[in-house]
Amino acid sequence: MLILSIETSCDETSAAVVKNGSEVLSNVVASQVEFHKKYGGIVPEIASRKHIEVINPIIKEALDQANITFNDVNAVAVTYGPGLVGSLLVGICAAKAIAWSLGVPLIGVNHLEGHIYANFLKSKLQNPKFPFICLIVSGGHTSLVLVKDHGKYETLGRTRDDAAGEAYDKVARFLNLGYPGGPIIDKLAKEGNPRAIEFKRPMLEEEFGYDFSFSGIKTAVVNLATRDPRLATRDIVASFQQAVVDVLVEKSIRAARAYNCESIALAGGVAANSALRNRLETKAKENELEVYTPPVKYCTDNAAMIGCAAYHKKASDLKLSPVANAKI
Ligand code: KG4
Ligand code: ZN
Repeated sequence: MLILSIETSCDETSAAVVKNGSEVLSNVVASQVEFHKKYGGIVPEIASRKHIEVINPIIKEALDQANITFNDVNAVAVTYGPGLVGSLLVGICAAKAIAWSLGVPLIGVNHLEGHIYANFLKSKLQNPKFPFICLIVSGGHTSLVLVKDHGKYETLGRTRDDAAGEAYDKVARFLNLGYPGGPIIDKLAKEGNPRAIEFKRPMLEEEFGYDFSFSGIKTAVVNLATRDPRLATRDIVASFQQAVVDVLVEKSIRAARAYNCESIALAGGVAANSALRNRLETKAKENELEVYTPPVKYCTDNAAMIGCAAYHKKASDLKLSPVANAKI
């Protein structure tokens, strides 16, 4: 089973070929970060236009790298949301056209479901066993999901305002550190003192359940840095990061214990964060839990994870979506 998958929900144009749901034959990603850098964030209109420019060559490259042609493709998968509407449409139109012309099924995949399935792509690690908790942390999302089985999810909590990655990006923009802010802060924080400033850990109290909030801490950083310009930037970002990581880890562990899960899986761009990985590993060990973290290339937006999710959809849902009736 060869699935050609396409992901264009945000600012990465990606196409992949995934064999039997787990083996990545190719995973081509064109990042637009250079075009959005000077604005300190993603400009949706630029994103859609850039997707249009590169979508066809990226798909061709994915087929070439996998050493196959369109005629070998058994199904086409595409992210149908959530994401930037203009960006999503580029991928969806391309996927529909290919599926229609080849006469193969078109499978729509939820972007967050795709992130979860990054944990099922073939790697040195085993796949997490059901049920498990998946912490999806990216520039657009922060969700804690109970994954009961293939295709069976329950969202336990999500951010009520900014996503974790968004907070990283906005703090970095305010401090003139560059874009995207996550990796820059991750690096700079290593030189700072994470206990220099005791930022409030937002919504950690049990009454907030598994929801998150990161916009307040972002404002706290801005206020503090404005009030006291002598504070070292490395200490500010280290302390900011510590507060964000503390909340993410604490809630993930709490959820795993409450729902009798043996493991926690990470997904999304912020899963690349070294402080988050380290803290989660330490806390998980204390609680006898296992942690699964996909390789970074599968944590950030990519089409391979979409192909993997689509395969499992097909396997568990025998009613394939014929092109004409596709849900998108
Ligand atoms: O999953 P992703 O590629 O795109 C979205 O779906 O949003 O995630 C991008 C986000 C950005 O906000 C970026 O700053 C953040 O992931 N990020 C990081 C790190 N690497 C990327 N955040 C913290 N630490 C990192 N090392
Ligand atoms: Zn994403």
